[in-house]
Amino acid sequence: MDFSLSEEQIMIQEAAREFAQNELLPGVIERDEAQRFPTEQVKRMGDLGFMGMMVDPEYGGSGLDTVSYALVMEELSKVDASASVVVSVNNSLVCWGLEAYGNEQQKQKYLKRLAMGEIIGAFCLSEPEAGSDATSQKTTALDKGDHYILNGTKNWITNGNSASVYIVMAQTDKDKGHKGINAFLVDKEMPGFEIGPKENKLGIRGSDTHSLNFNDVKVPKENRIGEDGFGFKFAMKTLAGGRIGIAAQALGIAAGAYELSKKYAKERKAFGTEIVNHQAIAFKLADMHTQIEAARFLVYKAAWDKDQGNNYDLSSAMAKLYASQVAMDTTIEAVQIHGGNGFVKDYHVERLMRDAKITQIYEGTSEIQKIVISRSITRD
Ligand code: CAA
Repeated sequence: MDFSLSEEQIMIQEAAREFAQNELLPGVIERDEAQRFPTEQVKRMGDLGFMGMMVDPEYGGSGLDTVSYALVMEELSKVDASASVVVSVNNSLVCWGLEAYGNEQQKQKYLKRLAMGEIIGAFCLSEPEAGSDATSQKTTALDKGDHYILNGTKNWITNGNSASVYIVMAQTDKDKGHKGINAFLVDKEMPGFEIGPKENKLGIRGSDTHSLNFNDVKVPKENRIGEDGFGFKFAMKTLAGGRIGIAAQALGIAAGAYELSKKYAKERKAFGTEIVNHQAIAFKLADMHTQIEAARFLVYKAAWDKDQGNNYDLSSAMAKLYASQVAMDTTIEAVQIHGGNGFVKDYHVERLMRDAKITQIYEGTSEIQKIVISRSITRD
């Protein structure tokens, strides 16, 4: 067993850390407040190769492993989870699915530009009445021979307005249940595709979340990903990898809050000494550190499983379940350690606390992760 990172992984981790400090930190509070998408920062992340990290260089990607991707997600999320979710969705839910299951023509047309960060993508599964219950898709895709006609609504779509290409799951044959669902590549310009209002969110406020409407959108048959009826499996397989990205995001949020808290506890004085010298604070830091390290092992193990070609449904669900809980617990304690200062925006921890909550909800709630885990461990 080897717990050390390779030289290349350390280099990438350092590059992400430096980028986060130099280019994400300035303005992060203002972007959160104004709900402003980090357009310039996303462009820069494209230049650095962060938008298509695991994609083969033949298709414009960085050709890195999943562990490197998790390291980058962790570093970016320590500072700005609104920016890191753009990275996660583009890498895991869009580029990965397209590279694994798209055909050559689709890869040439979409993957290269997505992987280089020239354009960004979105993944559209959730609906007003199909969040956790993802098989109950109401959006329809009627087969009209050489094209499909899409009708319906998608909800809470990350990169909703900033994306150029959308992977959309829709029901083609209701009688077949989940086996009648297909996944489509939908261009923003397709007539009948309409972007709904932006959501005003608790956290990750710099990210761009919208509902989407499809009104008789004509999608060419060549834009379907995989065989007829593969859409639900496509979504599930893609989400299993996505959960590694979100688990790493949760880990980063927790680690960011912990680092700020440790620094603050060494500076802030009360009762004649730095507060780190009070056991009430030191023990909080001890708990945070231990839980973050445990979350880190689960996240890296899930990423390693994926890199080894092992099944990672179970490990990614466990990583997301645990890391998101640690993110929530740690950020609440971080605000507590900061006291009154923790409650105001300048100290960052209140934002991290707000950002942590979504990691227990998107890409499968914690309750859904428990379904995946329990089914997996009781199968035989
Ligand atoms: N890989 C391959 N196939 C899978 C799979 C996986 N990981 N998980 C399930 N499947 C297959 C099953 O084998 C089954 O196929 P067969 O009938 O051929 O055996 C089929 O999918 C249906 O599976 P279930 O019977 O288990 O379906 P279910 O209705 O019980 O639901 C679920 C399973 C795990 C609860 C699923 O609905 C789920 O994951 N729900 C949560 C959805 C989710 O994560 N949404 C997040 C939205 S995306 C987002 O948040 C992105 C963002 O913007 C950040």
